[in-house]
Amino acid sequence: MKLSKSILAAGVGIAALASATLAHAQPTAEVLHWWTSGGEAKAVAALKKDFEEHGGKWEDSPVAGGAGDAAMTVLRSRVLSGDAPSAVQLKGPAIQEWAEQGALANLDDVAKKEDWDAVIPKRIQDIMKYDGDYVAVPVNIHRVNWIWSNPELLAKVGAKEGPKTWKEFNELAEKLKAAGITPLAHGGQPWQDATIFETVVLGMGGPEFYQKALVDLDEDALKSDTMKKVFDEMRTIRGYVDPDFPGRDWNLATAMVMNGKAAMQIMGDWAKGEFLAAGKVPGKDFLCSATPADNGNGFLFNTDSFAMFKVSGEDKIEGQKLLAELIMGKKFQKTFNLLKGSIPARTGVSLDDFDECAKKSAADMEADQKTGGFLPSMAHGMALPGHLSGAIVDVVTAHFNSDMSSDEAVNRLVEAVELAKD
Ligand code: BGC
Repeated sequence: MKLSKSILAAGVGIAALASATLAHAQPTAEVLHWWTSGGEAKAVAALKKDFEEHGGKWEDSPVAGGAGDAAMTVLRSRVLSGDAPSAVQLKGPAIQEWAEQGALANLDDVAKKEDWDAVIPKRIQDIMKYDGDYVAVPVNIHRVNWIWSNPELLAKVGAKEGPKTWKEFNELAEKLKAAGITPLAHGGQPWQDATIFETVVLGMGGPEFYQKALVDLDEDALKSDTMKKVFDEMRTIRGYVDPDFPGRDWNLATAMVMNGKAAMQIMGDWAKGEFLAAGKVPGKDFLCSATPADNGNGFLFNTDSFAMFKVSGEDKIEGQKLLAELIMGKKFQKTFNLLKGSIPARTGVSLDDFDECAKKSAADMEADQKTGGFLPSMAHGMALPGHLSGAIVDVVTAHFNSDMSSDEAVNRLVEAVELAKD
């Protein structure tokens, strides 16, 4: 869906008029976020604690729903009614869109004081800035293209680790199926279908193809034979999920791997947050491996961040500054990311206390940055504005949940992207 720019701008104007200034008030932040699963809740509680320990008053506004679709709907209506929350979990190009509306507060004062330019990687800085000014602050770097697997179930079919190619993935899944084990835990929600889809695009097509197809929206790539093969693979994968998959939340799919009900899940490393919150140990109770890479390694990144919306009242403005400053702090970035499953978004935080999956994430990120394999996630709002990614996700989901042919899916993909571009 395309944001209605004029309406949103009107909403922001009303918000700015709304409240009176309080002198020397307690720093206060109403925080809108979608971190409600076990691991997510632990991570956001760490932020709340840090904020409160520094004298802040935290007003929690959680909106349940993986990947934040529901949270973004609430955000739009809050802004439209002139009641923007002060701090909002917001990501990727959506930051630019809201900044364009004039809805976001400028964080340059805090950024200069804390020297953000020196500690935030350039690629991430570009996402956090609008017109050269900081308007958002990053909390983490999640990697999307992971397989989480249950080592006991893999062992039943003689496997010790996750598959390295999609052919191996299919062979392993067939063996699991033959052994009466559900190969893939999946939740049938559009963003989860899209999460699998983008890892297949990356894995089968390679990083360059991913960039062309899902970032540049190059028509030749979108209608290529490679894209048809991607949809073929999606059809094959559809045969590896259990019958109860429609509508299932992602964390319940993670629990299936944890509890031996399914062998693998393709999901970003917020899934690791779930395993850890349940006391599971990486390398022992669960395994992490990058999704299959037939054509060169890649890293699909997804950086959570907070944008501060323009609000009035000294308490709220002080709250925004305090929150922004704490989020970039080394201590917070370590505590939060240990719980969230991600790695820090800033330099200078030691990974010594992090597990092997996080260390692999950091090492792969460094290697893939050198080869062009470090790429923004389409499914998680990092690559494209919402109306464009939405057009792609609709086709992916329609294909996954029907008997649509790969030829038709590719035609629909090209058509949907063209329409959305206009
Ligand atoms: C967010 C994660 C979150 C996940 C599931 C992703 O888009 O970046 O922080 O844990 O969705 O809700």
